[in-house]
Amino acid sequence: MTGERHDAPAGLISQRDFATVAELLKRMAGIHLNPNKRAMVSGRLNKRLKATGQKTISAYCDALQGPDHTDEQDAFISALTTNMTRFNREAHHFTHLTESVLPALLETVRGGGRARLWSAGCSTGEEAYDLAFHVLRACPDAARLDIRILATDIDKSVLMTAQAGLYSVADLSHLTDKHAERFFDRRIAPVGMASICEAARELIAFRRLNLDSDWPFHGKFDVIMCRNVAIYFDDATQIRLWHRLTDRLQAGGALYIGHSEALPEAVTGRVRHEGAGVFRLAPVSSAARSLARQRTKTTEKADELER
Ligand SMILES: C[S@@+](CC[C@H](N)C(=O)[O-])C[C@H]1O[C@@H](n2cnc3c(N)ncnc32)[C@H](O)[C@@H]1O
Repeated sequence: MTGERHDAPAGLISQRDFATVAELLKRMAGIHLNPNKRAMVSGRLNKRLKATGQKTISAYCDALQGPDHTDEQDAFISALTTNMTRFNREAHHFTHLTESVLPALLETVRGGGRARLWSAGCSTGEEAYDLAFHVLRACPDAARLDIRILATDIDKSVLMTAQAGLYSVADLSHLTDKHAERFFDRRIAPVGMASICEAARELIAFRRLNLDSDWPFHGKFDVIMCRNVAIYFDDATQIRLWHRLTDRLQAGGALYIGHSEALPEAVTGRVRHEGAGVFRLAPVSSAARSLARQRTKTTEKADELER
């Protein structure tokens, strides 16, 4: 029994094995594998077979589900995720951030408040560092204030690259010269590479997180970038994710999504569309704010009377 069926031309995994792999990936990462990805999946998993010494895809999948295989589960997820990204991707999002979101956020943090930004599905880190560059450009002393960026991804290997913060000089070509010069250091990096400056690193925490699982934090965010991630999920998983992300927006918070992604109607009803892939939760109106203050005062009075 080889696990390879007659429906598979040489090098291609069988339809049945493809279905098993797709089911596993959906369960582990929420990712939907389109059948037209069979050749890509075959190529990538054949490498895992060589690395693990397994003879067939079905034996590999059986082993993957056994206990003590978390390292190979990580390698499996890493092999089948698409991590394409670059600096300054969808630059209009950063223009919107700088012009419409950061001014109020920075006023808040300079006044002693806090601000949280989230790059959800950050891949090798470019998106999170872009956020940091824009924050630093508007507020060079950001590290001393309570403004931080959480950057998460399911794929451990891309997070290691992100954390290292070392990029080839060619990767910097998408940045403006000012950003490339100001936020990278070439002197401390190997030839042909550039290292992210300390000020940008200080603002970011990279963490592993499966967006299709429970999230181990409860806070809300002023900015969420979740771009070119949901496209890999099926419709139901996408809808659930968009609901959960908008639930995590602060009043007035901004959600940025990828150019080929769309929010379902149930979610667009809760946010304002402010541009291509840009959505905003309504800010707390001054009337609502004074009503909340009024309620707090009334509750305090009632508490006093009870004492
Ligand atoms: C195409 S990259 C997008 C990177 C960046 N957001 C951008 O737009 O340039 C998609 C990223 O989503 C991550 N990803 C896929 N499924 C995920 C999941 N269930 N939870 C968290 N990240 C996931 C992949 O590992 C990959 O790094």
